[in-house]
Amino acid sequence: MPIPVRKCDAACGAEIMFDLSTPIDDRVFGEIELLFHDNIIVFFRDQRLGDEQHIGFSRRFGELEIHIVRKYLLPGHPEILLISNVRDDQGEHIGLADAGFTWHSDTSYRRRPSRCSLLYAKEVPEHGGKVLGDTVFANTIAAYQALPEAMKRRLAGLKAIHRYAMRRRVEDSPRPKLTAAQLAETPDIAHPIVRIHPFTGKKALYVTAGECIGIEGMPEHEALDLIAELDAHCVRPEFCYRHQWRVGDLVMWDNASAMHLAICDYALPQRRLMHRTTVIGSEPF
Ligand code: SIN
Repeated sequence: MPIPVRKCDAACGAEIMFDLSTPIDDRVFGEIELLFHDNIIVFFRDQRLGDEQHIGFSRRFGELEIHIVRKYLLPGHPEILLISNVRDDQGEHIGLADAGFTWHSDTSYRRRPSRCSLLYAKEVPEHGGKVLGDTVFANTIAAYQALPEAMKRRLAGLKAIHRYAMRRRVEDSPRPKLTAAQLAETPDIAHPIVRIHPFTGKKALYVTAGECIGIEGMPEHEALDLIAELDAHCVRPEFCYRHQWRVGDLVMWDNASAMHLAICDYALPQRRLMHRTTVIGSEPF
């Protein structure tokens, strides 16, 4: 019996009806992986996963990244990054409070950026019965396919330069400043603007205004205009799926064929707490 699936009424996204705390043999894993590649964003509702189970399922997709901002790693489980606006008794944030506030693809600043991320909802903010803190995903394969042929020809062979340290933060971001060692660990890196998906062979746009500072061999003003144009194209509503969270959701997205944005429409006492694992991918080509 195939695993039941409900596709979202959007350019990407599907709910997979499966309890991830049960054993996952290779056949079932293969089915989940295919659904993941087909739908780009998949989610599993009503999960009751321990940290080890979250990490164990994530590891099936590859080696896990230990996030560069060490302060917000889950004690005892550094594979899990806390994303949260919650503060401890001393008033310190317990997690990254401004993760994903600009469109991006996770760890695009790495030589081997993330294959996929798996975000597990522990606390979801709401106000007056309305759920807050959604995440929006854009299908960058669909965005590439919709480009005019002349633009596809223009982009062939171009590489955008990604920089970790340039990502815009909230005004009063509590995130610690990067140390000299962390900056040295994340030098600027050029990746193809049109990348080939390593598993499906499909072409996707791989460029965001929030992370890219230029295009190799192109004058800066021209490059920034092109980056802004492509970024705006990718996030057109027809390419997007907006996920409204429920506690117990595990959402995973394909960083080689999607970009995403966390909507910051909540503030304490509305609490948001997410656990993220990040799977390392291959070098884009
Ligand atoms: C992220 O960019 O990984 C965070 C997304 C979110 O918190 O919704």
